[in-house]
Amino acid sequence: MGPIAADVAAGGFERPLYQCGKAAGTFRLMQDILDAITSGASGEDIAALPVPESYRAAYVRRDEVDMFEGMPSHEKDPRKSLHIGEVATPELAPNEAVVAVMASSINFNTVWTSIFEPLPTFGFLDRLARESYWGERHALDKHIVGSDGSGVVLQVGSAVRNFRPGDHVVMHCNYVDDQDPSSHNDSMMAANQRIWGFETNFGGLADLTVVKANQLMPKPAHLTWEEAAVNALCASTSYRMLVSNNASAMKQGDSVLIWGASGGLGGYAVQLVLNGGGIPVGVVSSPEKAKLLNKMGCEAVIDRKAEGYRFWQDDHNQDESEWRRFGKKIRSLIGNDPDIVFEHPGRQTMGASVFVAKRGGKIVTCAATSGYMIEYDNRHLWMKLKQIVSSHFANYAEAWEMNRLIDSGAIVPIMSHVYALEDVGTAALKVHQNQHEGKLAVLCLSPEEGLGVTDQEKRERVGEDRLTLFHRHALETVPPM
Ligand SMILES: NC(=O)c1ccc[n+]([C@@H]2O[C@H](COP(=O)([O-])OP(=O)(O)OC[C@H]3O[C@@H](n4cnc5c(N)ncnc54)[C@H](OP(=O)(O)O)[C@@H]3O)[C@@H](O)[C@H]2O)c1
Repeated sequence: MGPIAADVAAGGFERPLYQCGKAAGTFRLMQDILDAITSGASGEDIAALPVPESYRAAYVRRDEVDMFEGMPSHEKDPRKSLHIGEVATPELAPNEAVVAVMASSINFNTVWTSIFEPLPTFGFLDRLARESYWGERHALDKHIVGSDGSGVVLQVGSAVRNFRPGDHVVMHCNYVDDQDPSSHNDSMMAANQRIWGFETNFGGLADLTVVKANQLMPKPAHLTWEEAAVNALCASTSYRMLVSNNASAMKQGDSVLIWGASGGLGGYAVQLVLNGGGIPVGVVSSPEKAKLLNKMGCEAVIDRKAEGYRFWQDDHNQDESEWRRFGKKIRSLIGNDPDIVFEHPGRQTMGASVFVAKRGGKIVTCAATSGYMIEYDNRHLWMKLKQIVSSHFANYAEAWEMNRLIDSGAIVPIMSHVYALEDVGTAALKVHQNQHEGKLAVLCLSPEEGLGVTDQEKRERVGEDRLTLFHRHALETVPPM
């Protein structure tokens, strides 16, 4: 049972359909929007609904960016810095859409924003404000966070062609200016490429959002709002890292070492490797997570905690014999060294990752959770002709391809627990403390879990068992709060 269901079962609270909105007017308008969505109103009817002047959102405050000063990272508590309250609805630009957000998810970037590391994100908003009239809207004293979402388009600007009010959508987080020539080969190369809800304002952890039309993608009809909301950021990032020619371009038969294989990125990476005819080796930190990977079809699993690897002897020196022990373990499982290492923990693991990749292999990296000042032994890289490949989110085409895989049922959501928007701080803390599996969903306008499926037959075809594997596993093994 998720935290919401648990509360209701315990008689703790019954959540009214729409309980927020400072002004009575906002409350009524939001309720009208929710009623229209849940009753399946036509696009025309939805287009006729007025958009409220304010809405409920999760945000950090500019005047609190120093609140954790001097504390070690792990003591910084997102429950203190993430607030839920009313914010003003921004003016709509011609190339944007207003979306009623039914559900969103926690990404690690919301953890970074909420602990103000490595920098407070208000600097990003101020920079965006200097670019244009429309950019100016973003430099507020509240940064509304969240880089994922599923929902319904309420209104579109005059330049929007492919989406209209009433469309059920998911939103990806690549925010690019298509008037910039550098964005027209691979938009991740655009000089002013940003991540929505992290480097821009008006993020997805809210009842409404304003996004560029080129962030919209059709919502897979067989998924609930919350299942649909957890995928775009992590799945598309993993897609670019593994499948796209822009990063490691995995081929059939490749073996791929996947750090954090039951986490946000890793849970999609495992599926992409299996789906593409590769051999995943998943690294996790508990027997429960190892079992979850086995259930996903990943046979080669390493429990890094049980193995007790100590790649660093102390803060300054790494231990090559531990890299060697790790490499031997991989060989014992799959008989060879990995063609690709899927890297994101960073400082703690990069030395080992470079060491264990096969001769000529690739280490593809998109992050550095445990520290970005990386050290590895360069002799193991150049003497064995290995490559370190960088990757960052995904362009629209890559995100769209990933969404197509999810829509087809080839890849399934890895949603574990579901939180109410009011509990966003707790959910972010779980991710900060690595006490979660897969992705944590957050209900925004959606009043309860399980809504939003419009193609039940397809859901049955894809299979309830596959679609709910992480959810069921989390309810059995991971405490929600
Ligand atoms: N550049 C991009 O576009 C992009 C996109 C998404 C995410 N990211 C970044 O990628 C990182 C991971 O994101 P995520 O969503 O996958 O997070 P996540 O859900 O927290 O999963 C990360 C997993 O990494 C493992 N891990 C954590 N610390 C580790 C360490 N010191 N050594 C080995 N394994 C460790 C954990 O698994 P076990 O404990 O089970 O081993 C954890 O489940 C974050 O830093 C995030 O900001 C970047």
